[in-house]
Amino acid sequence: MSSPDKPTVVVATGNQGKLKEFRLALEQVGFAVAGLEALSESIEVEETGTTFAANARLKAEAYSRLTDHVVVADDSGLEVDALGGEPGVKSARYGGPGLDDQGRLRLVVSKLEGVEDPDRTGRFRCALAVARAGETVAEFDGVIEGRILREPRGENGFGYDPVFFHEPSGCTTAELSPEAKQQVSHRGEVIRKFVEAVRNGSLKL
Ligand code: IMP
Repeated sequence: MSSPDKPTVVVATGNQGKLKEFRLALEQVGFAVAGLEALSESIEVEETGTTFAANARLKAEAYSRLTDHVVVADDSGLEVDALGGEPGVKSARYGGPGLDDQGRLRLVVSKLEGVEDPDRTGRFRCALAVARAGETVAEFDGVIEGRILREPRGENGFGYDPVFFHEPSGCTTAELSPEAKQQVSHRGEVIRKFVEAVRNGSLKL
């Protein structure tokens, strides 16, 4: 975790799927990655923003008051065109607290009943905020376009991955290996932008 010769980044998320993806990408390029356990206390940050970017900032700023390290927080979700952009910022809690990932994915699929293939378009979006001592110091965003299937396919990933068909890959993002998902995903994109900003010196850790 914390290491004298590696820059430590706290990835502020309780979502193990996300944490895994950040670890995979950031450890490969020489960062030490810590999770919420690195913070001085455990707090709940309410996602009251109406955009992914606003929620990412809320989380990064609140958590960065509880550590000396740089904190990154992402807010992400699925936008489905035929549902007017839903579940959007509500992706993690779509359909209420009684549903798990499977239940939420089934809900989206059921709401799309009768919608033809060409109209089942959507995208995952990810906003990443980087904060230190309560202030956002950088922001990045990423997107991946896809189509919502009628049946889940694949065992990898998390959330809505099993019904998110990525045309260029020819499969769902749950059928991609973690490394392959990273190359094409919304989260992979923000992480690459973050790493590039650190490397080119525009963002100092
Ligand atoms: P957040 O913690 O509020 O950012 O919630 C993001 C939610 O969006 C997750 O719980 C998933 O339901 C969905 N989501 C975000 N990124 C992905 C992804 O890469 N694959 C599948 N679902 C995702």
